[in-house]
Amino acid sequence: MLAELDDIERSALEALTAVDGTEGLETWRIAWLGSKGELKALMPRLKDVPKDEKPATGKRLNALKSALEAAFDERRTQLAAVAPVGPAVDVTEPGLPTGRGARHVLSRTIDDVREVFARMGFVHTEGPEVEDEWHNFTALNIPAEHPARDPIDNFFMGDTEGARTLLRTQTSTVQIRVMERRSPPLKIIASGRVYRPDTHDATHYSMFHQCEGLCVDRGITMVDLKTALFQFARAFFGPEAEVRMRPGYFPFTEPSAEIDMKMQVKGEWTWVELGGCGMVHPNVLRSVGIDPEEFSGYAFGLGIERIAMRRYGIPDLRWLFDNDARFLNQF
Ligand code: DAH
Repeated sequence: MLAELDDIERSALEALTAVDGTEGLETWRIAWLGSKGELKALMPRLKDVPKDEKPATGKRLNALKSALEAAFDERRTQLAAVAPVGPAVDVTEPGLPTGRGARHVLSRTIDDVREVFARMGFVHTEGPEVEDEWHNFTALNIPAEHPARDPIDNFFMGDTEGARTLLRTQTSTVQIRVMERRSPPLKIIASGRVYRPDTHDATHYSMFHQCEGLCVDRGITMVDLKTALFQFARAFFGPEAEVRMRPGYFPFTEPSAEIDMKMQVKGEWTWVELGGCGMVHPNVLRSVGIDPEEFSGYAFGLGIERIAMRRYGIPDLRWLFDNDARFLNQF
């Protein structure tokens, strides 16, 4: 039997060397050292060994068991070193502080503008960024042959249910959407993105934000428009802020004006051009089924980036969209 035990040891150790993973290791342990394993099966045979050979055979059996157990432990250590289960993590290490996020400077500017107009009774609303030509042009009194419709100045998208769609070039589209759904009196503010195929530089980008106002009721005049803009300027930029209106042209307003607001730029009060405004053109009211003899209205559109850039002294428009944390962290 002693010779047989030598053979068994050799086979067991050979099998163990061939083991190359945790699963194989466990299978080997069960086969050789388990309660129904090879080693256990040898024990009952001890009683058949001639009496004078018994002590030596017993001793050899014990040695075999110890040898296999030791070999098993060693192989297990080797395998653990070769194939670590995952990265070593010290769970007692103090954690790294996570950075605190903040609202984007443009989102904050939009919130602030909305907040001031909300206090003046303007209800906030939004419209889709993909528009049809009716809402972006036709209903706004921009005729079919108008240069503003030139493909070079628009992101046309294709046809939806027979109508050509485009990324809206102005939030004035929301005026139409609101007037189509509801009748006067109306007093709304709409903010959002608009798109124009411009080459990106310090003052141009192919996407930017506007804030649009619309007020329609009986007896609305230019005085109400100027009052609303004046109140906004004072509340938003400070008590010394002023509004200046210069004659302008927009197809959807008559008369039309360009809006300048006096705001503090690096401590100095400066006139900054912020957008356009005017009295809603009778054709626009007619296009949405509102009688211009009965109702009148004013509208305005402000550029959000302009406000934010001047307010915070940001010299380059592109910084607002680069998502460079070094820039964003300053707000
Ligand atoms: N939609 C114009 C633009 O994008 C801005 C504008 C001008 C809006 C006059 C208005 C308005 O509501 O009355 O340049």
